[in-house]
Amino acid sequence: MKNYSFSILNTAQTYELRTGFSLLNNLQMRMIPTRGKCGGKAICGRCRIQILSGCQYCNMPAAEEKAVLSEQELQAGWRLACQTTCIQDITLYLPQQDDKL
Ligand code: FES
Repeated sequence: MKNYSFSILNTAQTYELRTGFSLLNNLQMRMIPTRGKCGGKAICGRCRIQILSGCQYCNMPAAEEKAVLSEQELQAGWRLACQTTCIQDITLYLPQQDDKL
């Protein structure tokens, strides 16, 4: 069985992707700090990440996610890490704690 990965462009790190888990869970399993405050309930909107490549391998945004992110943000690849799952390799931008988003 092939292993897939997620790469964080702005930290130049690549990690094994656990495909059955959200990207937020994947980040947390690697002890990577995230900005999320609502425990993955799609309320705070602070766990947003930008998928730079591999959008086609991610689930489609659900209504909860569309309530938080604008259509323009979704078109630009922004997703809520707590609501996003992927089935193949992706590259993402992970906002840092002090980024104003
Ligand atoms: S953790 Fe709050 S929206 Fe994802």
